[in-house]
Amino acid sequence: MIYFDNSATTKPYDEVIDAFAKVSREYYANPSSLHNFGGKVESLVKQARKQLSKLLDVKEKELYFTSGGTEGNNLAIKGTALQYRSRGNHIITTSVEHPSVYEACEQLKQLGFEITYLPVNENGQLQLTDLESAIKAETILVSVMHVNNEMGAIQSIEEVGKLLSKYPKILFHVDHVQGIGKVPLNIHKAHIDFCTISAHKFHGLKGSGLLYIREGIRISPLFSGGNQENKIRSGTENVGGIVSMAKALRLTDEKRKQYLVEMIKIRDYLHSSLNQLSYIEVHSNLLHSAPHIINFSAIGLKGEVIVHALEAEQIYVSTTSACSSKQKTISRTLQAIGVSDEVAEGAVRISLSFENTLDEAKIFMTKLEKILIKLYEVMGEMK
Ligand SMILES: Cc1ncc(COP(=O)(O)O)c(C=O)c1O
Repeated sequence: MIYFDNSATTKPYDEVIDAFAKVSREYYANPSSLHNFGGKVESLVKQARKQLSKLLDVKEKELYFTSGGTEGNNLAIKGTALQYRSRGNHIITTSVEHPSVYEACEQLKQLGFEITYLPVNENGQLQLTDLESAIKAETILVSVMHVNNEMGAIQSIEEVGKLLSKYPKILFHVDHVQGIGKVPLNIHKAHIDFCTISAHKFHGLKGSGLLYIREGIRISPLFSGGNQENKIRSGTENVGGIVSMAKALRLTDEKRKQYLVEMIKIRDYLHSSLNQLSYIEVHSNLLHSAPHIINFSAIGLKGEVIVHALEAEQIYVSTTSACSSKQKTISRTLQAIGVSDEVAEGAVRISLSFENTLDEAKIFMTKLEKILIKLYEVMGEMK
């Protein structure tokens, strides 16, 4: 099996599963319980928070455990909107954000908020001049993703943060879900106020994540309840998920040091091999993209047909993002970079992990070429 769908989710590390199993089996008490069994479990959460804060170079009290990227993005955006509504009702984001940002903004629109979706250039990057001219007195939040989940485009988060630091009343949220562990981001240097992370994208478990909230910033909670996580995120903590997330991030950090060069080699090989095929259009730009994502279209073919043909060879890729791949909508990201709807319908995303090898990439290319030749023959229009 060749698994090239790591932006949809990654395979949990064995150590992560072991940590989850141990915590679930032996430390199942509620961390809020008064007895010392609960206290032991609480100390596991504390320990994980400490490890994660070190890895992210932030303070422990700036981390809020969530159920993943969707919740983190909703909490940052809606929590800011509800808290600072009296200050202003304008939010700026980009036209290529994940649905958990885009749909959260669309929902706020119905509540009277004004949303500006900034355009991006052909590489998927926003222009600082567009951002600056969109800012107005009512702007309370700017939300920009670090790495795009469909084509891998990297935004200049530090530059955005530097610009926004001139506007102390505007908060800055970064969806770092696809960037973490692959593309470094210095939260302080980039003047970030909120940063979303999800464990299952770096070999942790689904259903655990965290939201960084800069010290001193207050947002409105979305869940009412037992006031866990400093009253920002009520609900009994997913202790196994939290402990294993800390483990997953530490292991990912180690793997990155060891395997990043190899990952870039594999990505570059795939990029140049795909580019050599006249009937393929590669949408990801090598110079401006994360090392793990390549998006391409086979002209005239549908992405889903290619995904299913590869699946028959036990090779797993995606059309666009996992959440939208079953909905027959054209990718907003590809539309935003100027790809025609017809070509966008043929889009396929390869996404790598540090476990993938160059040999797998070579097998992938051989199989893909054979599949495409067959499909074009069937269509009777081999180009
Ligand atoms: C950029 C980005 N943000 C947010 C999410 C949502 O994360 P989760 O699946 O943990 O809810 C994803 C998941 O694909 C993503 O790629």
